[in-house]
Amino acid sequence: MQFRSYLASRQKLIDRALNRYLPNANTKPATLHKAMRYSLFAGGKRLRPILCLAAAEACRGNIHNALPLACALECIHTYSLVHDDLPSMDNDDFRRGRPTCHKVFGDGIAILAGDALLTIAFEIVSTGKPAPRYDISILLREIAVAAGSQKLIAGQAADLEAEGRKVKRDQLRFIHENKTAAILKSSVRLGAMSANADAKELSAIAQFGQRLGLAFQVIDDILDVTQTSEILGKSAGKDVAAKKATYPAVIGLEKSRAEARRLTRQAHNALSVFRGSDAEPLHALANYLLEREY
Ligand code: IPE
Ligand code: IPE
Ligand code: MG
Ligand code: MG
Ligand code: MG
Repeated sequence: MQFRSYLASRQKLIDRALNRYLPNANTKPATLHKAMRYSLFAGGKRLRPILCLAAAEACRGNIHNALPLACALECIHTYSLVHDDLPSMDNDDFRRGRPTCHKVFGDGIAILAGDALLTIAFEIVSTGKPAPRYDISILLREIAVAAGSQKLIAGQAADLEAEGRKVKRDQLRFIHENKTAAILKSSVRLGAMSANADAKELSAIAQFGQRLGLAFQVIDDILDVTQTSEILGKSAGKDVAAKKATYPAVIGLEKSRAEARRLTRQAHNALSVFRGSDAEPLHALANYLLEREY
C-alpha cells in the first residue's frame, strides 16, 4: 500500500504542475485549449513523469528540478496518444476511460491539440533549471531526438506499415524500441540529467530505461489480448483486429510473458551501480509495471 500512496502523491504533484503549465480552458482558441486539457487530464497513469522523478531521486537530485522535464514528457506522450487514436492511425474510440479526443472535438482539432501538446513540451523544458553537466540545449536535444523521426515517430511509422504484414522479430523489436521505449528511456535519462548524474549513473539509468521501455510495450501488447476494455480504459482486442505487429502475435502469449519478465530482470540489474535505497523507487516501479493490470 505504501507504493500506491507514493504513486498517488506523485500523480498529484505532476497534475498540479501540468495544470500550471497549460493555458486555461478559456484561453483563445478555447476549443483547442479544452481539447488539450481534455486529453491531458483524463487520468493517465503518469508513468513517464513518475519515472523521470524517480531517476532524479536515484541520482540524489531534487525532484523539483526534474518537474518541468517530467511535465514535458507527459505532454509529448499525450500528444502521441491523441494522434495514435486518429481514424487514419489506430482508429480508436476510447482512451483513458473516455471517448478519444477526435470523437469529442473532431479530427481537425484533435490533430491541432496534438501538435500543440508536442510544441508546449519544448516551451516547458525551456523554463527548466540547467544542471552543471547538462545545459538547457542538452535537455531540449534529448527530448527532441526521442520524440523525433528516428525514434518515436519512426516506431509509429513502422507500426503502421507493419499492419497486416508478417514481421520478423527484429522488425518487431525495432517498432517497440522506437514507438515506446525511446520516450521511457529519455524519461529516466532526463531525470538523471536534472540531478547532474555522472557518466556512469547516466549510462546505468539509460540501460534501465531501455529494458523497462521494451518490457512496457510487450506488456501493453499482452494486456490488449488478456484484459477488458473497462479495466484498460481503452478498447481491448484491437491489435488482433487491426493485424498489428505485437509480441503475442509474433511469439505467442506465454513467450511474451517470459520476455517481459526477462527484460524487467535486466532492468533491475542495470541499477546495480546505485547504492543504498536511492534506486528503490525505480525498482518498485519496474515491479509495478510488470504486474500492472492496465
Ligand atoms: C499507452 O501508454 C501507450 C503506450 C505507449 C503503450 P500508457 O499505458 O502509459 O497510457 P496512459 O498514459 O496511462 O494513458
Ligand atoms: C502506442 O502504441 C505507442 C505510441 C507512441 C502512442 P499502441 O498503439 O499499442 O498504444 P495503445 O494500445 O493504443 O495505447
Ligand atoms: Mg499505435
Ligand atoms: Mg494505439
Ligand atoms: Mg497497445
